[in-house]
Amino acid sequence: MEGMIRFSHGDTTFIQPHEFEHLEPEMARVHNLIHLRQGPGHEYAGWVDLPLNYDRRELINIIEAGEDIKDLAEVFIVIGVGGSYLGARSALELLQHSFYNHLPAERRQGPEIYFAGFNMSPSYLRHLLELIGERDFAINIISKSGTTLEPALSFRIFHRLLEKRYGKKGAKKRIIVTTDRSRGALKKLANEEGYTTFSIPDDIGGRYSVLTAVGLLPITVGGIDIGEVMRGAEAGHGHFGRPELAKNPSYQYAAARNILYLKGKIIELLATYDPAFLHFAEWWKQLFGESEGKDGKGIFPASVSFTRDLHSLGQLVQDGYRNLFTTTLWVEEPVVDQEIKKTGEDMDGLNYLAGRTFHFVNDRAHRGTMTAHASGGVPTLKISLPRLTPFYYGQMVYFFEKACAASAYLLGVNPFNQPGVETYKENMFTLLKEPIEN
Ligand code: PA5
Repeated sequence: MEGMIRFSHGDTTFIQPHEFEHLEPEMARVHNLIHLRQGPGHEYAGWVDLPLNYDRRELINIIEAGEDIKDLAEVFIVIGVGGSYLGARSALELLQHSFYNHLPAERRQGPEIYFAGFNMSPSYLRHLLELIGERDFAINIISKSGTTLEPALSFRIFHRLLEKRYGKKGAKKRIIVTTDRSRGALKKLANEEGYTTFSIPDDIGGRYSVLTAVGLLPITVGGIDIGEVMRGAEAGHGHFGRPELAKNPSYQYAAARNILYLKGKIIELLATYDPAFLHFAEWWKQLFGESEGKDGKGIFPASVSFTRDLHSLGQLVQDGYRNLFTTTLWVEEPVVDQEIKKTGEDMDGLNYLAGRTFHFVNDRAHRGTMTAHASGGVPTLKISLPRLTPFYYGQMVYFFEKACAASAYLLGVNPFNQPGVETYKENMFTLLKEPIEN
C-alpha cells in the first residue's frame, strides 16, 4: 500500500497551534494564487498540473531515446547548470547504486553517467575528457535559454569531439538537445542539424523542470522507471493539492517555515542521514534559494549530511547563534540494511548493538539529534518519506515544489523569477568582453 510523505513540527515549544490556525485563511488565499494561477509569476505555474496533464506520448519518446543512448554509449555526459541539471543528478544519486559508475557494465545495464557544464573548472573538464578516453560516448545538452555560458562552453568542447570522432552523421546520433520549444541558439542549431530534441514547456522554469524531459531523460538513461516517478508526482498532486492547511503536509511545512522566519529563524538546515541525499539537498537549496531570496527577504537554505556533519557543524547547530531551524528529511524504511555482528573481544564495547542494524542506529541518531537540537533552542521540523523509490522521489519533488511556491507567496515574493542572478552575469560579460592586455 502506497503511503504519503508526512510532516511534523515537534512539540509546541516553537510553534503554537494558534499560529497555524492564524495562517489558515492566508494559506487558502495562497492555494488559490497557485492553483488558479493568479499570483505573481503565474505564467510559470505549468508545473502545478504537470503530473496530471503531461504528454504521455513524449514520455514514451523519452524512454525510447534513453534506450538508444544505452545501446550506443559507454559514457553519457549530461551538460547543464542549475535547474537544468540538479534534479536529474539528485534522482540518480538517490535511486541508483551508491557506486553506479564503478559497477561492472553488465550490472549497470547502461552507460556511466557524468555531469558537465555546471562550472568553469578547466581541470574538471580535462579530467572528464580523459575519463571518456576512446570510449563511445553520447551527450544531452540541457539549456532552456540555450545561451547559458557554462553549458554553452562545455557543449562546444563535446560537440567538436563528437564530430571529430564520429563525423557529422555519427555525432548526430549521439547528441540529444533539451531546450526551449521555439527560441534560442540551441534550438536553432538542433533544427539545422536535425538533432533529437525535447522541449521544455514555456510555462515551467528551470528549477521546477525536473519532471519534464530536463530531468526525465538522464533519469531513464540511468535505469530508473520514470513512469513510476510521474505516478508518484501524480499522487503528490492529489495529496498536496488539498486547499486546507490541516490536511496538506506540504502547506504545513510552508506555514511552519513562515512562522519560524517571523521569529528570526532565518536559516534552514536540511538534515539528511544518507550521503545519497547530497545532490537532492543542492536541488532543494536552488529551489528555495532562487524562489524566495528576493526583495530583501528569504530564508537561507543550507544543508547538512548526518551523521557525518554531527562531527563538524553539529557543535554550531547545538550551541551557536540561535538564528536557525532544522528540517530533517527522514526515510523510514531503508532500501537495504546491514546487521551488526558480535565480536569475541568486544574491543570497542559495542557488542550490545549485536543483532541491531545500521538503519536502527541511524534512526536512533536522528531521533537523538532532533531532541538534542530542540533542547538547545533549535526548532526541528521533520519530513518523513516511507521509502526511497522512484514513486516517492516523484512525490517528494512535488511536495517541495508546492511548499516552495506556497512559502514564497506567504513571504509576498514572486516564486518564479530570479532577477538577482542577472547582476553577476552583467559584470562578468563586461569583463569577458574587455580587450586582452599584453
Ligand atoms: O531555475 C532557473 O531558472 C535557473 O537555475 C536555470 O535553470 C539555470 O540558470 C540554467 O538555465 P538554462 O536552462 O537556460 O541554461
